[in-house]
Amino acid sequence: MWPQRVQRALGQVAPSLVRRLSARIVDELYIEVKPREAAKPALTFPGIWLRDNCRCASCFHESSQSRRLDWDNFDATVRPLALHVDANSQQLHVRWSDAHESSYKLDWLQRRSFAGDKQQEYLNEFYRPRPSHWAGKQFDSIAQRFHYDQVMSEDAALQQWLQALAIYGVALLSGAPLDEGVVRRLAERVGFIRRTTYGEEFIVQKPSRGAQNYAYLSLPLPLHTDLPYYEYKPSVNILHCVVQTKSQGGSNLLVDAFHIADRLKREHPADFELLSSIDVDWNDIGSEDGREFHNIWRAPVICLDASGEYTRINHSVPQRDSHFNAPLEKVLPWYKAYARFVSMAQKDAHSFKTQPGDVLTFNNLRLLHGRTGYDDSEDNSRYIVGAYLDWDIIYSRLRVLKKRLNVAN
Ligand code: OGA
Ligand code: ZN
Ligand code: ZN
Repeated sequence: MWPQRVQRALGQVAPSLVRRLSARIVDELYIEVKPREAAKPALTFPGIWLRDNCRCASCFHESSQSRRLDWDNFDATVRPLALHVDANSQQLHVRWSDAHESSYKLDWLQRRSFAGDKQQEYLNEFYRPRPSHWAGKQFDSIAQRFHYDQVMSEDAALQQWLQALAIYGVALLSGAPLDEGVVRRLAERVGFIRRTTYGEEFIVQKPSRGAQNYAYLSLPLPLHTDLPYYEYKPSVNILHCVVQTKSQGGSNLLVDAFHIADRLKREHPADFELLSSIDVDWNDIGSEDGREFHNIWRAPVICLDASGEYTRINHSVPQRDSHFNAPLEKVLPWYKAYARFVSMAQKDAHSFKTQPGDVLTFNNLRLLHGRTGYDDSEDNSRYIVGAYLDWDIIYSRLRVLKKRLNVAN
């Protein structure tokens, strides 16, 4: 359970421990805060960081939680001159070489420990939950279901849904009413809808009925990510099933592309290298509501950050441009690698069918999704309402909820 772990990462220092703390200046530039017991590691803080983060009213604006100290005149050679630990008020007082004085609560310091394991704990539990990658056959054990009404009315349920979505990249809600406003109400429960070229809410329905039977067929949608041709892609898809087809098809397909990338890296490292380094030209050309658009974004299939962690996955057969601005000699090997990635993803895809009242939510920057073809009847036409949310908005809501439900930061 994460609440206990958050408590450890962000929680209060026990008063008995605080009373035994002492502090000293190290190498003129650092302050070491040390519990007397040998077992407790000392906490080392750079002096300049402490001075930069002074909490006094002239350095820090409490109501906006913002730094207000004058950085144009900040002395980057500032050093601590004298320390005092006050056991009763549980504070560390520092006198600085720039003639300023600062006080820090000891539990505030503890929560900002520079120890690597403490920093990792904070990042995983408060910055962004660490993703847990899964194979298609694990879907039933990782995909959590929440009640729509509870998510709408109880903060704990809202927090659990968003936490599951962040960790596994997918979560389902059940029992939603069958009206077109559900996706908006859900998005507004979190924050606000992310608008795209295609509007705010969008309807996924087969094309308008023609006289001939073949027009009733809705083709399969191969695995893809939505809007790979945007620099700022919508983060999370919300798909509300209002009417489900009674035909054989219309099933959702989902794959954790981070898991496929893990396997590719392990089993075919040269392919992984190509797919994570060669920019692909993703595009979308058309018009919507009388407005013409021509979107292009160049990015690899597997996008990595500076430490090699996945940031996003791009994949869409129709929305890959015929312009491919890659080095000529890399094109053949890239196709081989991409074909392997797509085939591994297809084999791992988990198929399931949402029912009316289900809301499927998943990470569009991580999961590939698709849909099997279907054939509606006159009186039963598959009707899905979709919308997007952005991670900035979701993570922000999650942090606010964690603070409210568990700890005061
Ligand atoms: C889409 C899509 C899913 C579905 O329209 O991009 O993924 O279930 N639809 O129809
Ligand atoms: Zn100050
Ligand atoms: Zn899609």
